[in-house]
Amino acid sequence: MDGASLADGNLWLHFTRTADWRGPNPSVPVIDRGEGCYVWDTAGKRYLDGLSALFCVQVGYGRPEMPAAAAEQMAKLPFATNWATAHQPAIDLAAALADRFPADLDHFFFVNSGSEAVEAAIKLARQYHAANGEPGRYKIISRAYSYHGTTLGALGVTGLPGARAPYEPLMPGHFHGPNTNQYRCQSSPNCAPCDLSCAMALERIVLAEGPDKISAIFLEPVQNAGGCFTPPPGYLQQVRSICDRYGILLVSDEVICAFGRLGTWTGAERYDVVPDIITFAKGVTSAYAPLAGMGFSRRIGDALSTGPATMFNHGATWGGHPVSCAVALANLDVFEKEDVLGNVQRNEHWLGDQLRELQARHEIVGDVRGTGYFWALELVADRERKVLFTEQQSEDLLRGFLSARLLELGLICRADDRDEPVIQISPPLVADRSVLGELVSILDQVLGEATARMHGTPGAPAPARPTESGPTAPEGGGAL
Ligand SMILES: Cc1ncc(COP(=O)(O)O)c(C=O)c1O
Repeated sequence: MDGASLADGNLWLHFTRTADWRGPNPSVPVIDRGEGCYVWDTAGKRYLDGLSALFCVQVGYGRPEMPAAAAEQMAKLPFATNWATAHQPAIDLAAALADRFPADLDHFFFVNSGSEAVEAAIKLARQYHAANGEPGRYKIISRAYSYHGTTLGALGVTGLPGARAPYEPLMPGHFHGPNTNQYRCQSSPNCAPCDLSCAMALERIVLAEGPDKISAIFLEPVQNAGGCFTPPPGYLQQVRSICDRYGILLVSDEVICAFGRLGTWTGAERYDVVPDIITFAKGVTSAYAPLAGMGFSRRIGDALSTGPATMFNHGATWGGHPVSCAVALANLDVFEKEDVLGNVQRNEHWLGDQLRELQARHEIVGDVRGTGYFWALELVADRERKVLFTEQQSEDLLRGFLSARLLELGLICRADDRDEPVIQISPPLVADRSVLGELVSILDQVLGEATARMHGTPGAPAPARPTESGPTAPEGGGAL
């Protein structure tokens, strides 16, 4: 339709304040095309995509391989289901993933989104226990401020109060323990020495809720919401042993962490732990087509294929769409041919060092944390004492300044305050040091300006539009 724009309000955006995309001057860029690590909006402005379009576009934009695979598959067979029939791209993809996932996680069930993958994992865990004669195991433990999706089951697993509140009451049986925020660890600050009290707290929930009632513990190897909470050494092994002690399944939600974000095929591989189920989405196709799923162990597969339970009683029409599976296979080829994991491994420490230099230069940066191409800078009012900004300061800083200013300077990353205020950085996995350097230098400028602004230096630049948030600044308690 000629002249239609965001301001017309026909399109509703996800987790975005209405004021930002309606009205005469919507502040949300309309992204038009992409090449490598960059995208351009309809006005021709170029942005470095420092968030990989929400942790998805691992191999960058404008690749010929995936469109070619999609076109070939569409011409040959646009669609067949994975129920009652099967198709070759799904069979091949399951085999390819089995080679890349840890240990005996060699069964794969495909769906279309991360939320659906988490939803499927909730059901798989319950059905597994029922098949083993333990139908009473329905409770799920996850962690504070975690994000696991928006469908009602996945939202129960999600630990973000703001995301849950509008839809309560949610499904019963969800409990949230501490996450691995090492910067603000209550028990032993900076985990020195780390007593793994955050893992022990999960065990206390198990004991309080009844070990024979717990179905699964869901966690991300590195938790995104709150800003890249990495696990302290031994943490995931400790959680694994808690699960083993009480017959609980460990679900590693790797919707973000899998497919190279941490420099390995899975986050489980990175941290040397073997979960029972791994959920994935986003990077499996580098976002050239929607696809998600879960990989699960043989013991789960056996429980649901022998004895009284002869099938996993769940399905989705589009789950494992042949075009998406063909695209995923092409994406895995690109990973191999271009050694995408190696690129992350060769540059991650350099990137971390650059970000720590920003911390050294800018008082406002309290903490730098992350791994692979998955990093966050936590912003603080007083670094010495780790003093938080007030709610109003945080609002002014994130939505009143940072989000708009980053976009103005041509960098898409996320300024977020679902826990404390953080800037999240997650570039395409093919980014080299010149792209990463450009990202760091824009951050350098914006952090300098933000420090001046928060410390009241006269002449600190005003944001382009003081009230706008842009697509990278969801409401506190909002998006993924
Ligand atoms: C860890 C995690 N789980 C689940 C989801 C939900 O994925 P989707 O938005 O594809 O439903 C996300 C989304 O970012 C996520 O980060």
